[in-house]
Amino acid sequence: MNRPCGIIVLLLVAVIAVMTWFFVIRGSGAKGEDGRTVIMLSPSDRAFFLAEMRSWLEAVQAISAALADNDVQAAAREAARAGRVDMSLIPGSLLRALPGEMKQLGLGTHAAFRDMAHTLQSGASPQQGMQMLSSILLNCTGCHAGYRVDPAGR
Ligand code: HEC
Repeated sequence: MNRPCGIIVLLLVAVIAVMTWFFVIRGSGAKGEDGRTVIMLSPSDRAFFLAEMRSWLEAVQAISAALADNDVQAAAREAARAGRVDMSLIPGSLLRALPGEMKQLGLGTHAAFRDMAHTLQSGASPQQGMQMLSSILLNCTGCHAGYRVDPAGR
């Protein structure tokens, strides 16, 4: 192999190594020892993400309490709150770090809460409310089974 050709091969190998690191290891996340895909987040992005999660769990608690009390309108208000999403408040670095499939599942869960709020407002029964809540909970358990978030830079 002549010299320029060897340099090109070396450059290509370097590009492939960097792309593998970027897309396979960093971008889409490596598998953790528990089999879940590990997403590395900066400590502040991770704190933001987990705070959003806790507010979803609070919403699930408030919705189930309201439905058990037959207060469908209160459940609708809580569902609407859980469904609200302001993209301008989400850190750009967090959006870049999350794989597309995970973002879709997250945004889909917000949308499912909004749908639930509309259905409850238009006269659904508490039992129908519980059915919708349990189907939303499948998004929660599905994502938790597939992904976890670890703090980067440790
Ligand atoms: C798109 C993916 C996704 C969806 C949808 C999702 N979660 Fe999470 N959630 C995560 C990940 C990832 C973690 C971190 C788990 C880990 O690192 O072990 C998490 C963590 C949490 C935590 C722990 C928060 C903390 O402070 O440690 C709670 C509570 C939680 N989720 C509740 C919910 C509820 C309730 C829903 C559904 C309404 C939900 N999540 C939907 C991905 C998701």
